[in-house]
Amino acid sequence: MQSKLMIIRCLTLFFNWVLCQEISNLPFPNSFLFGAASSAYQIEGAWNESGKGPSRWDYLVHNTPVVNDGSTGDVAADSYHRYKDDIAALKELGVSFYRFSINWPRILPTGFINEINPAGVEYYNNLIDGLLAEGIEPWVTIYHWEIPLPLHYLGDWNNDKIVQYFTDYANLLFQLFGDRVKTWLTINEPFSFCVLFVNVEVLSAGQEGVPTGTTEYQCAHNVLRAHASVYRLYQFKYKAIQKGRVSIVISSEFSLPASDSAEDIAAAERKRKFDLGWYLHPLVYGDYPQTMIDNIGNYSVVQGFPVSRLPKFTILEKLAIKGAYDFIAINHYTSALTTPGTSSEEPVPSFNNDDGVITYQNPSWEGSDFLKIFPEGFRELLVYIKKNYRNPEIAITEQGFADYPNIINDTARINYYQLYLTQALKAIYEDGVRLTAYTAWSLLDSFEWNNGYLVTLGLYDVDFESENKTRTPKESAKYYKNVIATKCLIDTCV
Ligand code: NOJ
Repeated sequence: MQSKLMIIRCLTLFFNWVLCQEISNLPFPNSFLFGAASSAYQIEGAWNESGKGPSRWDYLVHNTPVVNDGSTGDVAADSYHRYKDDIAALKELGVSFYRFSINWPRILPTGFINEINPAGVEYYNNLIDGLLAEGIEPWVTIYHWEIPLPLHYLGDWNNDKIVQYFTDYANLLFQLFGDRVKTWLTINEPFSFCVLFVNVEVLSAGQEGVPTGTTEYQCAHNVLRAHASVYRLYQFKYKAIQKGRVSIVISSEFSLPASDSAEDIAAAERKRKFDLGWYLHPLVYGDYPQTMIDNIGNYSVVQGFPVSRLPKFTILEKLAIKGAYDFIAINHYTSALTTPGTSSEEPVPSFNNDDGVITYQNPSWEGSDFLKIFPEGFRELLVYIKKNYRNPEIAITEQGFADYPNIINDTARINYYQLYLTQALKAIYEDGVRLTAYTAWSLLDSFEWNNGYLVTLGLYDVDFESENKTRTPKESAKYYKNVIATKCLIDTCV
């Protein structure tokens, strides 16, 4: 009798515990990895030192008004000389991995494989060895927008030959560093440089006459071909010995219908296909989403093009691209509302015209001047990927909050991480999403592209005026450190 009562009591307690659990009370799974990220141009500085060649961004910042505050990445956080400070910060955070990028012209000054810069190789060897000595895994992005200037002159990612140049470069990196690097990310956010660069960087730099509506698709087409070429190279030449994994970093806002109307729902789905699906669909199914093929094809005919502005893959390319990932790598910051239509400001033809969707954010969403947030959209995005793209393993390779410089007590950033990580927990525990890693963007305040140093996303503040570019942990660094140490979002977590 006594033991029967005991069992009933235990069962009651157990079910109470199960039913009373708030998801944010649960810890992340033991195997879950937390990391932090950066990219070469945004932090390294030393733009023309020790044999490094110029990149497109070196050219843009010195010769065009593309950066709002007129600043450059010439020195940035000076990580080329102060990488040990970065490793110390990573160690203090307790991260499992550090995602950083290799500056293509620091290794190959002209972009071509015939001339290798030994000082560049030494720098990345030191960084990789320094990380491993502290038990931090290097996650290496092969291309985070640092295209060597000569290759930019040859047509950038619109030149079909980029596939060969990029494969030669990646092959060299596998040879040089593959004994120690086990996670490779080929290309960062092609949407940004295939679409947004055209609109922001290139056009504001006064380079008019860019054939929008074709260049975006040709660029993305070559990105997918180059990625697949590198993925297959690794798979057949290196994987058996080096035992690493390879993916490509895809950025995606999550598109939500502005209302319950069928038109808005269809617009949201169309936008998802033109955004995430543009890359994920070929990777998972071997071709572009049908909506893109139809929309761009139909508009092209009406606009007098003999063939669709969306290029076609050959059968062999489809075979190479389909399945060219070991996990799905996603950068996600926020969401957007969608409704059908086209903005009168968009050139015709253009990518933004082809999707026939207007996106905007709800002014009531909280956030900063630079980033309005909608945390639930993060969970919806994860579930969408699970449902539509065969339940892959997913790593978040960037997520973070943008605010003004010099805010050490960055409560808004803590709030962001707390809200977004709660959605990650819900996706893992309630939706069964195979989310295995999370990367905070970014480790340091850094050069934020056309916003220069006016916007910051770092866990660590960098005093850019100081001689030694002093790194100071913000309150968010302390928060993230605690999350990593406990795998919990709140103190009462069990
Ligand atoms: C994505 C890019 O990969 C990164 O370089 C940039 O700093 C962040 N977004 C924040 O804008």
